[in-house]
Amino acid sequence: MASFPVINMEKLNGEERAITMEKIDDACKNWGFFELVNHGISHDMLDKVERLTKEHYKQCREQKFKEIVGLMGLEAAQSEVKDVDWETTFFLRHLPESNISEVPDLEEEYRKTMKEFAGELEKLAEQLLDLLCENLGLEKGYLKKVFYGSKGPNFGTKVSSYPPCPHPELIKGLRAHTDAGGLILLFQDDKVSGLQLLKDGKWVDVPPMQHSIVINLGDQLEVITNGKYKSVVHQVVAQTDGNRMSIASFYNPGSDAVIFPAPALVEKDQGETHVYPKFIFEDYMKLYVGLKFQAKEPRFEAMKNMKSSTAPNPIATA
Ligand SMILES: [Fe+2]
Repeated sequence: MASFPVINMEKLNGEERAITMEKIDDACKNWGFFELVNHGISHDMLDKVERLTKEHYKQCREQKFKEIVGLMGLEAAQSEVKDVDWETTFFLRHLPESNISEVPDLEEEYRKTMKEFAGELEKLAEQLLDLLCENLGLEKGYLKKVFYGSKGPNFGTKVSSYPPCPHPELIKGLRAHTDAGGLILLFQDDKVSGLQLLKDGKWVDVPPMQHSIVINLGDQLEVITNGKYKSVVHQVVAQTDGNRMSIASFYNPGSDAVIFPAPALVEKDQGETHVYPKFIFEDYMKLYVGLKFQAKEPRFEAMKNMKSSTAPNPIATA
């Protein structure tokens, strides 16, 4: 099997641009995931984000997690636990409006650093969307425009820890799912592994790599690209040793953005059945909340049949 795709973004500025763009296209088509190095976010910033996140976990989250695990009796589990994940998380919103100043228990330095980090990730996400447009033959800015809606994209960060787990065979760090949104940028632990994606029916590790950013595509990009690119099922396997840090930032469409297959990609597909619906992003998210750990196809089907109250036009499927 081909090895997990690693993209050196510096090569986009030189002689190897074409081959690097091809690698990105291949990763989007065949993996739904790739790992970026030399992405332009400084190692100093990444090191600081990691240090402050780990300190915050120790100070504010570790004890609470242990208490919850104790209350739920998870350490004594004898059979597979199917409705809980072995993770502790909190969420920061950046766009359309930041909530960082309101999130409790964050040191001032941590707030400031996460705000700066989000600014860098936002730029990187928008750069990547344009690289995808180029590979897809869509006009520059097309994806950004679709994501914009009337108030701009939704952009947020889920900060997670996966503490050591006594029974990884019985309880997942995070159960298998595809991501609902657009583009996901993950800064993951450089030592403690656990993230896996499903490829050709087999689980493949997303290898930890210092200072890299892992990218994956959500359901919305699958719809907009008319299935040229796919959101891919992934999971986190809890580890018996080590505490895995995972900082996943979601660059998603605005709540009222209308999502549908790009007409340019549908026209090139003449003869294929148009399987993807048209819908308002917020309606998809309402559905996703209850169905995250189920297959995406029934979600797409449900959206085809949904009459949205906010849709400007009757829902069409192409
Ligand atoms: Fe995910």
